[in-house]
Formats: sequence, structure tokens, C-alpha cells
Amino acid sequence: MPAVVRVIDLVKNYYLQSDTVRALRGVNLEVAEGDFVALMGPSGSGKSTLLNVLGCLDRPTSGEYYLGEENVARMTDDQLSEIRSRYLGFIFQSYNLLPQYTVVENIEIPLLYQGCKLTEETRQWCISLAELVGLGHRLDHRPLQLSGGQQQRVAIARSLVNRPQVILADEPTGNLDSKTSDEIMMMLTRLNAEGKTIIMVTHENDIAEWARRVIRMRDGQIESDIRNKRPRGFGDSVPELPLDNLTPTSPVNVPNSYSPG
Ligand SMILES: Nc1ncnc2c1ncn2[C@@H]1O[C@H](COP(=O)(O)OP(=O)(O)OP(=O)(O)O)[C@@H](O)[C@H]1O
Ligand SMILES: [Mg+2]
Repeated sequence: MPAVVRVIDLVKNYYLQSDTVRALRGVNLEVAEGDFVALMGPSGSGKSTLLNVLGCLDRPTSGEYYLGEENVARMTDDQLSEIRSRYLGFIFQSYNLLPQYTVVENIEIPLLYQGCKLTEETRQWCISLAELVGLGHRLDHRPLQLSGGQQQRVAIARSLVNRPQVILADEPTGNLDSKTSDEIMMMLTRLNAEGKTIIMVTHENDIAEWARRVIRMRDGQIESDIRNKRPRGFGDSVPELPLDNLTPTSPVNVPNSYSPG
């Protein structure tokens, strides 16, 4: 499989008034299309910093970053947000849903940020994503009317709305009990089986066991990089997803680019 993510000598410094924090100190990493990576390491080792750079939410101080064919290390803010909406989906520990909006509206939000016109077709697409994560009966609920696991499922559906190639997740199960965490991990495993590349930060060994590859960071560098021969979802019957149009080459006409109006 070709590398979908490739970083070379990535450095990220944070410049404070009296101090420079060297958060990433020369990270080299390739992630193949379809891989499922767990990023681990002690607090402060640079996991979120790396994920933010990979997610084009932040720029490296130096080094190269290729996402697919694009060299994103030196892009402008506008170019970065275009790349984000073309390639990437995000899942956060605290779900980051908007409380005043319903399940379907929360799933639509990335389309709005992208400048996409909401149509009956995009609405149906968002409903099918809600159904995909098992929330077809909760379309009009608001986040506070949902359990934590359900809120995270909304966030997973939202991360898929642009049909991203890569899903980035920062502690996606950090606020959930172990049974709900396993449900979320099963869902990510299914998405991975459908071809999504997943890069996930976690502190927990039993969550990292779901990944195909475990990378440990320390002091802003990669300390170890190990293939997991038997990821936890492996061998379980991972049912196929009811949608066959999650991939970027999908015929489903969710606009990929800015359409005025
Ligand atoms: N915005 C910032 N300004 C200054 N320093 C920062 C900033 N963000 C992170 N840092 C510093 O960079 C280093 C790496 O932080 P990062 O958040 O990437 O760690 P982490 O591995 O995600 O830790 P945790 O497991 O606690 O989430 C830390 O020393 C942190 O204090
Ligand atoms: Mg972090």
C-alpha cells in the first residue's frame, strides 16, 4: 500500500516568552493507506502535537509533511483547511458537538465549514451516516439527550461526512467506560476494514490492542514502532458496513469543493 502520510524530520517548537518547548524533535514516520495506528507515550511526549500537525491544524517549525501527494508543511491557512476537508476526519475525546444542534445537524457541520450547500441529498447522506453508527432513531436528539457513547458515535458519523481518507482521533475513548469504549473501537475497526486509515492517540494499552501498529513516543521522538500481529477486532466477525460509499472515489455526490450559496 502507498504511504498516505509521510513526515520527514518533523520539528515543532513552541516559543514562549522565556522559553522554547521542543515538542517534536525530528519525527520520521510513514503510514500506509489502510493502516490503523495507535500513538502512545507519556504525557507531554508530543502525541497531540504530532496529531495536530498531521491533521493540518498546526504547522511544523521545520521538516516535510506529505499527505497523499500534497506537501502540506508550508501551505497557507486556506490551503490547509481545503486539505483538511478533502482528506481528513477528526474525532476528539470530548466529542466537540454543538449542543444547540440535533444529531443530523451536527453531522452536517463540516459540510457547512466547507462552504457546501446543504441539500436534500446532503441531508440524506447525513441521515445514512447516523444510521451507520446506530443512531437512526435519534436523528432529532440534541447532544445532551444522548449518552457519552452515543455522542461519540455522532462524532464518528461527523468525521465521515467528507468521505475522508484518513481519520485522526485523539483519545476517542478517554471519557467512556470500558464496554462503551469497546463498542467505539469495534466501529473504528469496521471503518478500517472498509479502507479508512486511522491514526489514534491513546493512553490505554487495551485500546491500543485494537490497532494494527503501535507507535510509542518519548520526548518528542518515536521510541518504538511495533506491528500488532493480532489486533483485538481481528478474527471477530466484523460485519460489513451498510454503506458502500464511504470512500473518496464514491459516486455519492457530496460536493468536495466549495460551491457558493
Ligand atoms: N500551545 C502550546 N504552547 C506551548 N507548549 C505547548 C503547547 N502545546 C503543547 N505544548 C508542550 O509541548 C509538549 C508536548 O505536548 P503534547 O500536548 O503534544 O503532549 P501529549 O503527548 O499529547 O500529552 P498528553 O498525554 O498529556 O495529552 C509538552 O511539553 C507541552 O507542554
Ligand atoms: Mg495530548
